[in-house]
Amino acid sequence: METTMQNISIEKTEKTKIDQVDFDNLAFGSVFTDHMLVCDYRNGAWEVPQIMPYQAISLEPSAKIFHYGQSIFEGMKAYKDADEKIWLFRPLENHKRLNISAKRMAIPELPEEFFMDGLKQLIKLDENWIPKKEGSALYIRPFIFATGKGFHASPADEYKFIICLAPSGPYFSGKVKVLIEEKYSRSANGGVGFAKAGGNYAGQFFPTQLAVKKGYQQVIWTDDHNHEFIEEAGAMNIFVRINDTLITAPISDRILDGITRKSILPIAEDEGITTEVRKITVGEVVEAAKNGSLKEMFGAGTAAVISPIATFGYREVDYDLPELESSFASRLKKRIIDIQYNRAEDLFGWRH
Ligand code: COI
Repeated sequence: METTMQNISIEKTEKTKIDQVDFDNLAFGSVFTDHMLVCDYRNGAWEVPQIMPYQAISLEPSAKIFHYGQSIFEGMKAYKDADEKIWLFRPLENHKRLNISAKRMAIPELPEEFFMDGLKQLIKLDENWIPKKEGSALYIRPFIFATGKGFHASPADEYKFIICLAPSGPYFSGKVKVLIEEKYSRSANGGVGFAKAGGNYAGQFFPTQLAVKKGYQQVIWTDDHNHEFIEEAGAMNIFVRINDTLITAPISDRILDGITRKSILPIAEDEGITTEVRKITVGEVVEAAKNGSLKEMFGAGTAAVISPIATFGYREVDYDLPELESSFASRLKKRIIDIQYNRAEDLFGWRH
């Protein structure tokens, strides 16, 4: 498909809502900025994107998103440094992954310039919404879904690409307690687990509700075959520290290729931390918790950043992780956010 970027049309809001927002007490992803970007796919091509006031959209009840769930998304953040300069973190990786998800869900791929130019113009327009408080950022949600009509179970012929922005605080509040799941599965070989498809998240809600009733916040998914290996937590990839080695599972058909996950690995190596990317059995984690060699577990993701896990539950037993003075999680989190906020040298060329 040949596409050339033309001027994005911009319709500005008549009245900003920014004065209604309490920037000191931001929840995650629950207030939205003044504008959004919308781009339609029709007649076999992506049309020129438009920036418009944030508003409801109207869809026909027969739109295929409602019936067959053709929908994918990304999660990114924009950061403001002390000089009010705006930074993105590895945005081209998000574009690449959006198209990996698109391909798997039979959605037309989006050209890079539509993604990048649209994103930059939208953020520039709503730059006053980028929170300055430590721990907060402007969460960016690009997504594509099927607007084409019809009950025939086949890919739609029309789609919308939208970007919305939400000034956000931390994803988790309080101590993170997770349950290692061995009844339900998030994904399977040959499935869509590696894609950021909306349905991957919907499918987790019921098992997570059951875990929440037992006092956990999240589920750690294990492989669908024997529930023997630790995979990911749905909203984040998982790292475990056994003695002084930091281990994470390799990405696969079933595990999302997290951008925070793949940024932590070289940073950890640079910190002199030994890393291993290999399968992790539930048995070894439980054994390490029992013999004291399990020092840390943490989740890593754009929304979660690096979130230490305080407790994990497995087969009705809770295992508490030690509270460390200087943890790998806090060292790595500092390194990554210092790069994101332009407070440290961008060793790997990730700031944009
Ligand atoms: C992100 O970390 O950006 C995600 O997309 C995870 C989502 C469940 C909030």
